[in-house]
Amino acid sequence: MIFTCIVAGGTGSRMGLDRPKQFAIIKDKPLILYTLEKFLSVSDIDNIYIGCHKDWISYLEGQLELFSLDRSRITVTEGGSDRNETVLNCAQLAESEHPGGGHILITHDAVRPFVSREIILKNIEACKEHRAVGTYVPVTDTVIISGSGQTVDSVPKRSELYAAQTPQTFMLDDLLAAYKNLDDTGKLSMTDTCSAITLTGGKIHMVMGDYKNIKLTTAGDLDIARILL
Ligand code: CTP
Repeated sequence: MIFTCIVAGGTGSRMGLDRPKQFAIIKDKPLILYTLEKFLSVSDIDNIYIGCHKDWISYLEGQLELFSLDRSRITVTEGGSDRNETVLNCAQLAESEHPGGGHILITHDAVRPFVSREIILKNIEACKEHRAVGTYVPVTDTVIISGSGQTVDSVPKRSELYAAQTPQTFMLDDLLAAYKNLDDTGKLSMTDTCSAITLTGGKIHMVMGDYKNIKLTTAGDLDIARILL
């Protein structure tokens, strides 16, 4: 079976709204529903687990009802204290509801509403062959490394640099095994889910993302989203 985990457990502190950014209202609808609809439109996906901030679960349930979304393919569960824990909660729930192995789990940020069907389908196809997949775009800015934040230590070759987006897609069993094998240092250093695989010795297959598939982080990003949605 194919599952999605939409991570929506954060508070969106950098955006500074009166609510977590995934619940920002754009044209009368919370942002997370735009993201959710993209995944609902892919019929290959059997169920979508939403790892939601615990204070917002009843609000989310109400909005799913209000917009008549297909509840038979959506499960709302509690998010964790960090993004990795939110992914883990969804992964463990999917595993307990569907034991037996062989399932695919697509992980995605609630705050990336511009993901395309094409990227989702590319993730699924690549995961069937390669077992662990990330979505990336080549960086367009020159990136520098600076330990001090005052002076530049080095300038890595731009042609070898990519920015990680979501979806990131895994065989569910592999992801759960990787989480189990991570030590505390690894857990703390992870800024995406693919790191669970690379830190435990696995390989990530790369699929090409899209520069439009932005993560909404700041108030300026929300202005852009309002224009585009
Ligand atoms: N996320 C999550 N559980 C957490 C923290 C983050 O599911 N405990 C989710 C966010 O809801 C978001 C995604 O991870 O969909 C990307 O994280 P980020 O942009 O860092 O979101 P926030 O943590 O909410 O933002 P901030 O760091 O500004 O507080």
